[in-house]
Amino acid sequence: MHKAEAKKKIDELTAQIREHNYQYYALSNPVISDYDFDQLLVQLTSLEKEFPEFLDPNSPTQIVGGSITKDFETIKHKVPFLSLGNTYSEEEISEFDARIRKNIDVNFAYVCELKYDGVAIGLHYKHGELVRAVTRGDGEQGDDVTNNVRTIKSIPLKLRSGDYPEEFEVRGEIFLHHHIFERINAERIKNGEVPFANPRNSASGTLKMQDSAVVAKRSLDCFIYSVILENLPLKTHYESMQKAKKWGFKVSEHLTLCQDLPAVFKYIHHVNGLRAHLGFDIDGVVIKVDEIELQKDLGITAKSPRWAIAYKFKAESVSTKLLSITFQVGRTGSITPVANLQAVLLGGTMVKRASLHNADFIEKLDIREGDVVFVEKGGEVIPKITAVDLSKRDLFSQAHPFINACPECGTPLVRADGEANHYCPNEDGCPPQIKGKIEHFTSRKAMDIEGLGSETIELLFKEGLIRNVSDIYELQKKQLEKLERMGSKSADNLLAGIENSKSISFSRVLFALGIRHVGETVARKLAAHFKNMEALLQAEKDQLLEVEEIGEKIADSLLKWFAVKENQEMIEKMKKLGLQFELNQNEMNSSLSDSLKGLTFVVSGVFEKYSRDELKKLIEQHGGKVSGSISAKTSGLIAGAESGPSKLEKASKLQVKVITENEFIEMLS
Ligand code: IVH
Repeated sequence: MHKAEAKKKIDELTAQIREHNYQYYALSNPVISDYDFDQLLVQLTSLEKEFPEFLDPNSPTQIVGGSITKDFETIKHKVPFLSLGNTYSEEEISEFDARIRKNIDVNFAYVCELKYDGVAIGLHYKHGELVRAVTRGDGEQGDDVTNNVRTIKSIPLKLRSGDYPEEFEVRGEIFLHHHIFERINAERIKNGEVPFANPRNSASGTLKMQDSAVVAKRSLDCFIYSVILENLPLKTHYESMQKAKKWGFKVSEHLTLCQDLPAVFKYIHHVNGLRAHLGFDIDGVVIKVDEIELQKDLGITAKSPRWAIAYKFKAESVSTKLLSITFQVGRTGSITPVANLQAVLLGGTMVKRASLHNADFIEKLDIREGDVVFVEKGGEVIPKITAVDLSKRDLFSQAHPFINACPECGTPLVRADGEANHYCPNEDGCPPQIKGKIEHFTSRKAMDIEGLGSETIELLFKEGLIRNVSDIYELQKKQLEKLERMGSKSADNLLAGIENSKSISFSRVLFALGIRHVGETVARKLAAHFKNMEALLQAEKDQLLEVEEIGEKIADSLLKWFAVKENQEMIEKMKKLGLQFELNQNEMNSSLSDSLKGLTFVVSGVFEKYSRDELKKLIEQHGGKVSGSISAKTSGLIAGAESGPSKLEKASKLQVKVITENEFIEMLS
């Protein structure tokens, strides 16, 4: 294809895909099938590959992420992020209305909206393109999370119609739909990670992740609730929201004009009923005076506007009987007391159990078996017990003693000074801890053994076929075939999965061992430093502490684990069975030198010899750090063709050195 023709086709496809994204993500109104949409994307991707000179960084193909942000730069908000006065009582809403009417004597309307329970974000646009996304932070300054926000499909990278202001900001709330929150938590539990408490925490944790490709997979969403511009050429907030929708933003369909106070109350009651069916969390409604001039007249108090208020829903609370308290042992041996409740309907779901957290929680609320307790949905998803109805307590009830031996293996429990939880110290003999360790070992991020999930592990453990992770490699077909729900074919598949896992890299094997405090990153650093298990096993504490990111806690944990004879034997056995206990060539290459140690670079633009991602990788392989934005701490801006003018400007302002691709390559040698 000719260049001009390619450019035209790329522009056409880009516009088409953008419009479909808008219809799908902002308006929830898809007009073509997923298949047809994917075909358009495939066409655009292949053209962009063939003609990289036409690749727009804001192209819809670029939202799969891939950039890494190590440090999120702090940005001061030009217009402070105000908070909202809030109330739980309708009476105070009437008082709010009366206060306003005292100050203005013209007729006016309110706009009522949902109060989204997520993470507030300010999105800055220049000439119709997203240039920066900053979290609310403390209201004065927040974090630059642009790289991650660029992966959110309902946030346009480029605006639609041409009547948007040249430069402006919109604010809104980033949130997670319940079904995605549940998917993320299920995955975390499977990987032996602590689940997020609620969708808000999950959204906020996701926004601060370093790898935007992971963020992209989390499917965050965003509703816009205000347009920030000094002289917005519009009269009302309602109009501004309609405009925002036309420009490409997602604005809730529940935004409603209310002419008087009764209409506001009607809205509140309507939304309260709707709440359980929305599929995402809200914690109330926001009531705003619609006319922008009137908003200005009313002004703001110390931190919140006089023209708006939030009506917050009380957490729904029900009472039910606490039938019994049982104790669960987690993968790490931590003991969690659980309340088994008489089933009760709460926020649309049946609740039968609630966590009692630890001994202090039980003691503080003086919770006893047989009590009538109040249950609320904290963050709307996880039920929690908030109080005991003492008026209904049985005269003869007794305080429930916390257990002192493990319910699974009988070992006396320990509770370290200053720690809230009791632990079972029998790491290698307590069944849930053994099974948990094996589950962690086989999980996707570790040895990734397909077909060896929690149910199969339970079965193999019950049959006495596995007692530790090395036993997995000695399983035989005739043993597996005999198991429930396991035929000859699944046995073959499982054995193939086990065999394949023998090629998993040393750093992942190290992570898979489940040594306390040795997560993926620590395992990678250890593997890169010591190169093989032999050297790591022989390392003294001082040598361990020399490794980046390894402190006292991790070093002690490693030494303790390596000192156990059974662990040494297990490693020896797995080494003989063919697992990787030294760096392979690939991993050797992944750390090339320390020549850029202590230096931080920003990479911007298009280059001749390497792609942006390759350059970033090179920086890391030579011990340097990559950042998404320039700050006074940046050591250099590696700028290629079409490098963003704002980056160059900022580099010159902060006296950050601008480096060409060739200069950078010279630095490496
Ligand atoms: S308007 C000056 N509208 O609530 C008006 N805020 O306490 C400022 N929020 O962190 C905000 N939904 O992120 C507004 N429909 C909505 C909202 C909303 C949620 C959050 C906002 C802020 C907090 C204000």
